[in-house]
Amino acid sequence: MLRKLFGNSAAAAGAAAPARASFLPYYEQTFAPLLADRTSGFRMMFELLEARCRGLSRPALIVETGSLRAVGNWSGDGQSTRLWKEFAAFQPCEIHTVDLDPGAAPVVRAECGDAVQAHTGDSVAFLYKMAQSPEPPQIDLLYLDSYDFDVADPFPSAFHHIKELIAVRPCLGPGSIVAIDDNYPHPDPADGRVTGKGYLAMQWFRDLDIPLLHRGLQFVWQL
Ligand SMILES: C[S@@+](CC[C@H](N)C(=O)[O-])C[C@H]1O[C@@H](n2cnc3c(N)ncnc32)[C@H](O)[C@@H]1O
Repeated sequence: MLRKLFGNSAAAAGAAAPARASFLPYYEQTFAPLLADRTSGFRMMFELLEARCRGLSRPALIVETGSLRAVGNWSGDGQSTRLWKEFAAFQPCEIHTVDLDPGAAPVVRAECGDAVQAHTGDSVAFLYKMAQSPEPPQIDLLYLDSYDFDVADPFPSAFHHIKELIAVRPCLGPGSIVAIDDNYPHPDPADGRVTGKGYLAMQWFRDLDIPLLHRGLQFVWQL
């Protein structure tokens, strides 16, 4: 099933991408004012992704864990899935989102139509299956926002996001953009560290010498 789903984007080589209108002015005018603490993180992702799209001869592949679940909750959850759909009106994209909750996929389909393929299941298993394809598709933007973070018990969520990265590693190559949502200053201000979904991933990327390009509620890296 996944070969069928993910085979197309990697194989759809063709002529160099034609010049297209930029999504960024539309983002600034329409979405940036709604996104509160995520405004700058999404801006960074779209700047990087748009630049990457200019060099692609296939649709950009966007993969997300943790789907839009509450329509209109811009400042709370972020509405990431809807934003990918909006970006896809400017640049050809293949978009997949996965959520453990079977209630999420119908919400995504109602909000995003055919632009986004919504899957139900555990994100680690989903990503691993994708990465086991004979020719693993190369992800252009990987957005990790699954397993809700509990400030009283940060490890399970952060570790889940590490498991996602391990599972999907064959699909990440030079230029792949990786973002993780829901990161916060450490509750002890003297500590200096961060906590949140990405605090372990931050250490992993640091060990790999991959610089953190955006540090806020969302962390953004580019391989
Ligand atoms: C914060 S919400 C995602 C919000 C969405 N990205 C947005 O911007 O609107 C987190 C989602 O992760 C899902 N989730 C939790 N554990 C998961 C897992 N193991 N695999 C996939 N999804 C999971 C939850 O069901 C929930 O819908």
